[in-house]
Amino acid sequence: MAKQFSPGRRKILIGSLAVGATAATWGIKPTDIGENHSPYFVALSQALDNKKIAKPTLVVDKQKLLQNINVLKKHIDNRFAYRIVVKSLPSIELVKLVMQESASNKLMVFHQPFLSLIAQEIPQSDVLMGKPMPVTAAQTFYENEKHSPTSFNSEKDLQWLIDSPQRLKQYLELANTLQKNMNINIELDVGLHRGGVNSDSDLLDMLHLIEQSERLTFSGFMGYEPHIGSVPGGLLSNRDKVMAVYQHYVALTERTLGRSIQHLCLNSAGSPTYQAYDSGDFPHNELAAGTCLVKPTHYDLDTLSDHVPASYIATPVIKSIDHTDIPGVDGLGDAMAMWDPNRAQTFFTYGGYWKAEPESPKGISVNPLFGRSTNQEMYNGSKSISLKQDDWIFMRPTQSEFVFLQFGDIALLEGDEIKHLWPVFSESGYVQPM
Ligand SMILES: Cc1ncc(COP(=O)(O)O)c(C=O)c1O
Repeated sequence: MAKQFSPGRRKILIGSLAVGATAATWGIKPTDIGENHSPYFVALSQALDNKKIAKPTLVVDKQKLLQNINVLKKHIDNRFAYRIVVKSLPSIELVKLVMQESASNKLMVFHQPFLSLIAQEIPQSDVLMGKPMPVTAAQTFYENEKHSPTSFNSEKDLQWLIDSPQRLKQYLELANTLQKNMNINIELDVGLHRGGVNSDSDLLDMLHLIEQSERLTFSGFMGYEPHIGSVPGGLLSNRDKVMAVYQHYVALTERTLGRSIQHLCLNSAGSPTYQAYDSGDFPHNELAAGTCLVKPTHYDLDTLSDHVPASYIATPVIKSIDHTDIPGVDGLGDAMAMWDPNRAQTFFTYGGYWKAEPESPKGISVNPLFGRSTNQEMYNGSKSISLKQDDWIFMRPTQSEFVFLQFGDIALLEGDEIKHLWPVFSESGYVQPM
């Protein structure tokens, strides 16, 4: 349990009371914002109970997911290829559903164990790595491939993302040692400054190395630009700056190689920015996105206003108490509740402290004085809420990447039923053959 009841916290308690008293004199006493579950969350609670689920669970609503895929398809409108960001939808069945509904077999993968798993489970995939991997991770992938061959053709359908001449040389050596052909996609720094090529000379060195090699093939560029909507300057003007950099490297490459690269994989964008390419001409030919299909809270953005939340964390109420007690300071819980009616009741949840925001019942919040806990977390709510032991509290994850991996199988809601329990990716990637 995190930081509870230390002398420091006692100071915070007293400080909070002082703030409360000051706020009271300003007349900004909170009002009751509590509301019981809407019919949607009543039905979801029933679906979880019917499935005999009684632990923190990540729920994906299939209907809302499909709605988001349709929104995405309308925006992309066949003007770009669509690449599915796998780390944001980390379950084989979930990825397969998105592939089927979006009619795309293009995946972006960020983790060697997940790559090995995809090669095993979805061998028809076309994979672009989304970040540069240490060459030893690539070597591990090829070892797995040797031990457990599948129909995934890594020489044809896998592009390694390479960010520098130094890393390219490492991959070249590995390709020669293993006698493997490799596709090399070059990461461009188009303004994010997280990595990737940021000079003509580095790009020319890399193209030269690739062209000279028997084993390596240049397969395109990846230039990620999630900052364009959040830094000063405005989305479209920032987009144009980023695309001018992208275009510069495309033109330089075509001049250097003496041939067009328009048919290669020229990737850009992500959930927060993909709608910035609804119209106009751009140097890239495919868009990557994943998180927008489940829309956690950090993606409540103007650029994704037509996407709907499709994922929730559901967790049982372990204890429901009709008042609030703060240990060590008698009467403090009552005082808090007197000031803020949304602190009148207490609900301890099964687990907690996830990267998530409470969603239902409305008006519940973590008690700021009790401290956070990954075991049992104290939520408060007003007397307008009736929530008893074993009822459900729902949260929205702030992001899907990583958070989706914390709950075991994903519960897929279809209509008013949990239809499937879908395993999430495991870190071990795949099981070594005996
Ligand atoms: C290279 C790259 N492309 C695209 C994305 C977008 O992923 P999402 O749509 O899930 O935000 C990311 C996210 O980290 C990324 O690193």
